[in-house]
Amino acid sequence: MSNHTDSLMYHTRLTRDMLNGAKYAVIPGDPGRVESLAKALDKEAAPLSANREYTSYLANLEGQAVLVCSTGIGGPGVTILLEELATLGIRCFLRIGTSGAIQSNIKVGDLIITKAAVRLDGASLHYAPVQYPAVASFSLTQSIVQAVKAMKLSYHLGITASSDTFYPGQERYDSYSGYVIKNLRNSMEEWRQLNVLNYEMESATLLTVASALGLQAGCVCGVLVNRVDNEEIEKNALADCRSKWLELTRLTLLHHMNENT
Ligand code: URA
Repeated sequence: MSNHTDSLMYHTRLTRDMLNGAKYAVIPGDPGRVESLAKALDKEAAPLSANREYTSYLANLEGQAVLVCSTGIGGPGVTILLEELATLGIRCFLRIGTSGAIQSNIKVGDLIITKAAVRLDGASLHYAPVQYPAVASFSLTQSIVQAVKAMKLSYHLGITASSDTFYPGQERYDSYSGYVIKNLRNSMEEWRQLNVLNYEMESATLLTVASALGLQAGCVCGVLVNRVDNEEIEKNALADCRSKWLELTRLTLLHHMNENT
């Protein structure tokens, strides 16, 4: 693929020219979050393409082009995005997502910064054996921490269980069958005992594949539910997370750009 850098990428429908030299990508899961994230970086941010789960905008943040592009849900879509964007010159990926907490001290609306992920995905095994760690970029994670501190937000830094499935992989029984296979029963309690903070669905793939390809990636998620207390995602939690994401993304990128030029 690296020999075809001027060509149109099959899934994201992007070319190198369209990215205007961007090295950074902000990657929410939801295509519906792309426009607001891009416009928080740059009021003049413009749409580039929309195909399947990949909606993209280009922003200019203090003279540097930044791509904002959604990943969709789960690992396989993340690998496609990383492959195509790295081919076009992106080197640093910041995931902004949502999550369910599994430790009692974490509140809905808090932020969880993933320093490493438990690889409960399948896609990352196509890039590195299971012994290989899913670990975040140290410098990008430092920039996220610096940004949440500057905003005086409540945050937790630690290990995330990153699962291919929302229901059985996160030990949810409120599913169609209500059945969770033997291997996954009591898994939530096990992760809790092992000091895992939360569940989400993309970081294992993102962090493993980025490291394996020599790219940088980091992940910060807003908490929509605390599974210790209940299974219902709180109604206002998403709006609460959204209100924090925009400035958090801007400050994180600015800090990282300043520290790494
Ligand atoms: N996303 C997840 O993957 N799990 C949750 O519980 C909430 C958001």
